[in-house]
Amino acid sequence: MKFNLVVLRGDGIGPEIIAESVKVMDAVGKKFGHEFNCDYALIGGVAIDKEGTALSKETINKCKKSDAVLLGAVGDPRFDDPQAPIHPEDGLLAIRKELGLFANLRPVCVYPSLINHTNFKPEVLKGVDFIFVRELTGGLYFGHPKKRWEEKDGRWAVDSMLYSEHEIARIVRVGFEIARTRKKKLISVDKANVLQSSRLWRQVAIEISMEYPDVELEHMLVDACAMRIIQNPRYLDVLVTENTFGDILTDEASMLGGSLGMLASASLAGVPKAGNRTLGMYEPSHGSAPKRAGLNMANPIATILSMAMMLNYSLGLTDEASAVENAINMVLQENYGTYDIIGEGSIKVTTSQMGDLIAERI
Ligand code: IPM
Ligand code: MG
Repeated sequence: MKFNLVVLRGDGIGPEIIAESVKVMDAVGKKFGHEFNCDYALIGGVAIDKEGTALSKETINKCKKSDAVLLGAVGDPRFDDPQAPIHPEDGLLAIRKELGLFANLRPVCVYPSLINHTNFKPEVLKGVDFIFVRELTGGLYFGHPKKRWEEKDGRWAVDSMLYSEHEIARIVRVGFEIARTRKKKLISVDKANVLQSSRLWRQVAIEISMEYPDVELEHMLVDACAMRIIQNPRYLDVLVTENTFGDILTDEASMLGGSLGMLASASLAGVPKAGNRTLGMYEPSHGSAPKRAGLNMANPIATILSMAMMLNYSLGLTDEASAVENAINMVLQENYGTYDIIGEGSIKVTTSQMGDLIAERI
C-alpha cells in the first residue's frame, strides 16, 4: 500500500531521532511492500527562523491532507525568555489544536532487559504495563482567560482549567474503549476534592461509565496517582486524565521504563477502535534535548515506537507495528543501549547505530 506522511523534524535532537524512525519505517516498507511518501515541513524554532511563525498555515494544511504526521521534538533555548513574543512550543500546541488531536496515548512498559538499569527495585517493575490517555486540546493549556497583566500592587497572571462536558466525555470514552481491549479497568485521575473542573470530569466519567458496564471505573486523585506510579505501578492499567496532569504524570511514569527516551506517544483525532483508522500525530514524549543535539547520542527508541503506533492507529498496519516492537525488543535483549539506558554489561551505541540495529532486525 501507499501512504502519504508529513514529517516534522523540529528542533534539537528532532532531526536525528526522526532520521532513525524513517530508516526503520523504510525497512518496514521494504519487508512488507509498502510505500511511505514523506513530505518534510517545519515546526518550532526552525519554523520561527525560516517562516517567522512556529507553525505555518501551509504546514497545517499539508498535515490535514496526510495519512499521518511524524514529529521529532520542539523547543529551543534561544526562545526561553519568558518575555519572548513567540515560543517554539506554540507550534506544537497549535498543531494539536488545528488537527483536533484530543487524545494522547502514552504507553508505559518496562522492558525486562532494562529492569536493572532503572532507579527502582526489580520487584516493583516486573510486569508493569499501563497506558495513559491524556486529554490534549483543552484544560489548563488552552482555557481562557489566559494572560498576564499589571496592576498597582504588581504583576498578575492567569491560566484556566476549562472543560466542557463534551470534551470530557470524548476523552473518557477513549479511556473506556482502550480499557475494553485490556483488563477492563479504567482509572480516571482528577482533583475533585478541590477543583470544579475535576468535579465535572468525575461526574461525566460516571455518566459515560453507564455505556460500558463491562469496564470497572475507579477515581483516583492526581496526587495519590503520582504516589501510586512509583509505589505500586503494577496496579495501573488504563488511566485517563486532564492535559496538565497527564503531562506531569507521564514524565514521572517514564522513569519506570528507565528513560524518558523510551516513552512513545500517539495523538489522535478520533477514538482508537479495531478497524477504525484515525488521523494522528506521532512523537516521542520527551523534548528536544538541546544539550544533546548534533552529538549522535540521543535515544531514538521513543520516536521509533511512536512510528510503530502510527502504523497501528493511523495506517491500520498491525503486523508491521508488531515487527517494529519485536525488533526493538531484540536489540534491547542483545544488550545494546544508548547512553541513557546502559548499565553493567551493555554495549553503548549512538543514535544512528541504534536505528541501524533495529532496522536490520525488521
Ligand atoms: C509533552 C511536552 C509538551 C507538553 C511541551 C513541549 C509543550 O512536554 O508533549 O509532554 O507540555 O505537552
Ligand atoms: Mg511533557
